[in-house]
Amino acid sequence: MSGYGSSRGRGGYSSGSRYSPYGGRGGSRGGSRGGYGGGGRGRGGYGGGRGGYGGGRGGGKSEYGISFGQAGAGLTPIDWSSKTLNPFPRNFYEKEHPETAKQSDAEVAKWRQENGIDVFFGYQDSIEQARRQAANSDHVIPKPIMKFEHYKFPADILSAVKAAGFEAPTPIQASTWPLVMGGNNVIGIAKTGSGKTLAFLFPAIVHIRAQPPVSRGDGPIALIVAPTRELAIQIEGEVQKFAGYSRHACIYGGAPKGPQMQKLRQSPEIVAGTPGRILDFLEMGITNFRRITYVVCDEADRMLDMGFEPQLNCIFGQVRPDRQMLLYSATWPQEVRSLARDYVCVDGKDDNVYQVAVGGMDKLTAVKTVTQIIKFVSASEKRSMLKTLIDEAIAEDENTKILVFIATKANCNDMHQQLWSDGYWVTCMHGDKQQYQREQALGDFKTGKMKIMLATDVAARGIHVDDINLVINFDMPGAIEDYVHRIGRTGRAGKKGKAISFFDKFKDAARAQKLIKIMTDAEQQVPPELYSMRGSGGGRRGGYGSRYSSRRSGGGRRGGGGYGGGYGRY
Ligand SMILES: Nc1ncnc2c1ncn2[C@@H]1O[C@H](COP(=O)(O)OP(=O)(O)OP(=O)(O)O)[C@@H](O)[C@H]1O
Ligand SMILES: [Mg+2]
Repeated sequence: MSGYGSSRGRGGYSSGSRYSPYGGRGGSRGGSRGGYGGGGRGRGGYGGGRGGYGGGRGGGKSEYGISFGQAGAGLTPIDWSSKTLNPFPRNFYEKEHPETAKQSDAEVAKWRQENGIDVFFGYQDSIEQARRQAANSDHVIPKPIMKFEHYKFPADILSAVKAAGFEAPTPIQASTWPLVMGGNNVIGIAKTGSGKTLAFLFPAIVHIRAQPPVSRGDGPIALIVAPTRELAIQIEGEVQKFAGYSRHACIYGGAPKGPQMQKLRQSPEIVAGTPGRILDFLEMGITNFRRITYVVCDEADRMLDMGFEPQLNCIFGQVRPDRQMLLYSATWPQEVRSLARDYVCVDGKDDNVYQVAVGGMDKLTAVKTVTQIIKFVSASEKRSMLKTLIDEAIAEDENTKILVFIATKANCNDMHQQLWSDGYWVTCMHGDKQQYQREQALGDFKTGKMKIMLATDVAARGIHVDDINLVINFDMPGAIEDYVHRIGRTGRAGKKGKAISFFDKFKDAARAQKLIKIMTDAEQQVPPELYSMRGSGGGRRGGYGSRYSSRRSGGGRRGGGGYGGGYGRY
């Protein structure tokens, strides 16, 4: 099969790069930093009591647990109790629009039920617990904003919404906007492709524009932290698209620092970035967080994973503790919740925290718009099966885009070469590629120059590419949450999609049980073979739980930075 796509331009990868490979981290940090006084990493707020890590530090890690030599290791906790924190405007939702107010409680309850929405006040570990608590509480949950015109969004946002052709806010937007614009901390859990980005971006713009202007030397007002470079870039793209008047910057690893530093010197109001580079610039004094009052953690469960925890603690430790804090994801494993609680409940108080779950919080929810198919294939059959599926998909629709997830970087490269030499127009993205190659691969896939992309889990979360009709899991993912995120690259924003997963009966049997649950909940046809394997769960390699399960046991399953830093396993 050949001729898929228009120009099989291979060029560009090897020469004429816009970027030199890596920014190169100067050796200025690192070294030992003994003698922290009374350190401790507690995020705890104003009131002192930062009893630290008793002694024995010198062994190569900072107070936040960042290895010396890595970005952020030189940053120490700020004693916020000794600082005067001037109040900042945070409530921009004092009055509901008459149309919003007009909705009766019964109408709102019906709408929430139809859309599987739970909104609850205060931090609760589970929906059941939250429901019990809500039944005994007279706290009134603000009603949803059902139309864009029902809030006084800035004119540039409204005209961009119109240009995008959006008809109405999605359920997560409608439900969270009143809470977020009311100045509250929010944990928002909603399915892949359901509009979480604008759920946190529009209020960010409203928040920013109500603050005193950012002047030279000031740091940004809003910070959005994302686990991968490409996701951070995509989020900045959304800022540009929907609020182009706001000054913005994106800071991420793998690309030269110069241009990013230049952007930061132009005093952006909103910054999106990945943890490593954020810390790097903070440490270098290129930016500061003195003015940050609005913080978003996108893909929060992934961010709270062990790979990023020290970095996040360090970043958030540099931000005033009474900031507004927002956590969003499509998956919300139990294991990350207590950490999340520390971030949203200042001083242990949960009096300005809401949790919103669209489609369930206590179960892994895949979008129903994706048809999930399981193919039982052995390792040796996978390659020819992949080609067959690609050929079939193209025969059906020659413009279809296909995203193939492969477990390892080496196999990704190998398969790329093979498909390429077989005449397929295919690109490839993973953590061993240089950043300009990653961006080029994704760019080619987005524009449609390349209609097939092979990727590791670096492309599993948050990435939005129009017209991906088919996701193929060449290898099943290592953590069940990633299955939900991977297949969610298709079937977005109400469109339909298909996900075909290769299931190796020997290797993947332990995954059957959780897969059955996800498929059943999404009203998919579960193949009988999966049921027959159900009992094998929890077997080899610690089973197919979540990657989070051992996060508290130390051990360092992954190096810091994970796939965002480009030196993780993806
Ligand atoms: N109100 C809306 N109406 C229609 N489309 C929307 C609306 N809001 C956002 N979208 C579009 O839906 C698509 C998916 O949005 P987004 O990337 O924010 O999803 P997400 O919930 O963050 O998904 P993921 O969990 O995969 O990160 C985007 O193309 C976005 O522009
Ligand atoms: Mg997203």
